Amino acid sequence: MAALQKLLVDVHTHVYLPRYASLLRARLNAPRILTRSTPSGQTEDRLLILDDEPSGGRPVGAQYWDREEKLKFMDKHGISVSFVSTANPWLDFLPFSDAQVLAQELNADLETYCSTSPSLSPTLKRLYGFGLLPLVPGAPASALAPAVSQLASNHPHIRGIILGTRGAGAGLDDPALEPLWGALAETGLVVFLHPHYGVGAPAWGARENGHVLPLALGFPFETTIAITRLILAGVLDRHPNLRILLAHSGGALPQLSSRLASCITHDPEVAGRLKHDARWYLGRLWFDAVAYGAAELGFVSEAVGRAERYASVSGKAVGEQEARRSGSQRMVFGTDHPFFPPLGESEKWQSVVENLEAIGEVEAWSEEDKDGVRGGNAMRLFGLQ
Ligand code: URA
Ligand code: ZN
Repeated sequence: MAALQKLLVDVHTHVYLPRYASLLRARLNAPRILTRSTPSGQTEDRLLILDDEPSGGRPVGAQYWDREEKLKFMDKHGISVSFVSTANPWLDFLPFSDAQVLAQELNADLETYCSTSPSLSPTLKRLYGFGLLPLVPGAPASALAPAVSQLASNHPHIRGIILGTRGAGAGLDDPALEPLWGALAETGLVVFLHPHYGVGAPAWGARENGHVLPLALGFPFETTIAITRLILAGVLDRHPNLRILLAHSGGALPQLSSRLASCITHDPEVAGRLKHDARWYLGRLWFDAVAYGAAELGFVSEAVGRAERYASVSGKAVGEQEARRSGSQRMVFGTDHPFFPPLGESEKWQSVVENLEAIGEVEAWSEEDKDGVRGGNAMRLFGLQ
């Protein structure tokens, strides 16, 4: 068991399975993969995932669909186990009937992708997955809980689902989604909440800044808003067993959680709906460590570690150092592969190296805490050994 505590486990790593990549290639508008000629007379594939994508989208290639490339990337960075999820925008752009069929097919593909991956031990594979639900605009709520049960019962290597922020069209605080949360809590599937659309585009201004503003700010704010709406709708109160993993270290939620708590307090109508102070819910959530900096990781873990203080029945006070440590137990390493590829010839991907260095440099974490964030916490979250 001690050796498993030292594994490097990537919980945030994406794929466009071949079936999904074919769908994107067949499309004429975003999301799509198109092939274009380069000035040097060659051709290149480009991925366009938003209608107003700057700079003609981004390069896309085998890293996105070839399992061998995923395993090579893992080997290069010392990653033992990966929890692979379909990259955005999932099935969001399809009518429900198509999404329902494709979700089943892609979940079966992903199960095979994982179950036939190399083994690390008789009980441990190198690849596990987050499946897809046909949660698209217009999806009938009655279809969602059965889809969850079907996914959980027939796909042993799929340990969670990846979820965008739009729900069935009205966001994740839509009361119609109540049975979905119930089903997810019951199965124990981990919900990986991930952005796609960004928020705030009108504020980005006229200057050409490529993908920087939507990715650095729009993405995390989208996640922040979605999880905040979920908290305000009482979903975490009604489903205490729901396990939600937030992309990009929860965006701005940890930084804004005390302000959120204060705003709620001053709005008695909203406060009356919640069982706890807003900060308490941080301790119910999981956060990937895709933040690229030690200060940010330390801060998130401290905010998470303090959550217990804000239970409605006041908990015991926690010292600052202790708070950072216990908060770290809800944080899990991720890479966001194959996004953010190296720009030049380099042995390792800078985006991975930065995230690993950040974990190593959090002053308040012991070696045991760091090992937890690198892998032990994910093993616990997903019930692996
Ligand atoms: N990371 C993702 O997961 N998706 C993107 O579109 C960009 C970065
Ligand atoms: Zn991602």
